Amino acid sequence: MPLTSNTIAQIHALISSESNNVANMANISAHLMAETGWHWVGFYIIDEMNDELVLGPFQGPVACTRLKRGKGVCAKSWETNSTLVVPNVHEFEGHVACSSLSNSEIVIPVRKNGRVVAVLDIDSIEFDDFSSEQQNVLESIVKNLEERWVG
Ligand code: SME
Repeated sequence: MPLTSNTIAQIHALISSESNNVANMANISAHLMAETGWHWVGFYIIDEMNDELVLGPFQGPVACTRLKRGKGVCAKSWETNSTLVVPNVHEFEGHVACSSLSNSEIVIPVRKNGRVVAVLDIDSIEFDDFSSEQQNVLESIVKNLEERWVG
């Protein structure tokens, strides 16, 4: 089921009165998973001390706990401070396959004062499953989270 502006409003309502990052990431993951048939929806958080990404709140199968700089889609989104849409993950050099069922992926950076503090990562078993409309909706949701981000 595609996401609509309704999803943006529902997520806004879910997180608008809460300032805890983990609670908000958890509810965003759960809501997006309930609304869609995506394989994995969740967050990786920047671990400044170890200069890598660490698993945050998510929905779906067990995933890689830590992602190193320089390898994979999440790390590239972090390093380039940009959204990455990957229609076929098997063609992305260095893709980290936490699940062999994933075929396409989108990663959106969560920023605080311009710096990436986390990324929203979504995997689909369908190829080319993330349209620019879906990207826009997801970026609006991330913007909502950024406005409430503490730290
Ligand atoms: N595929 C990601 C790793 C995280 S999993 O998809 C949950 C990557 O290449 O960074």
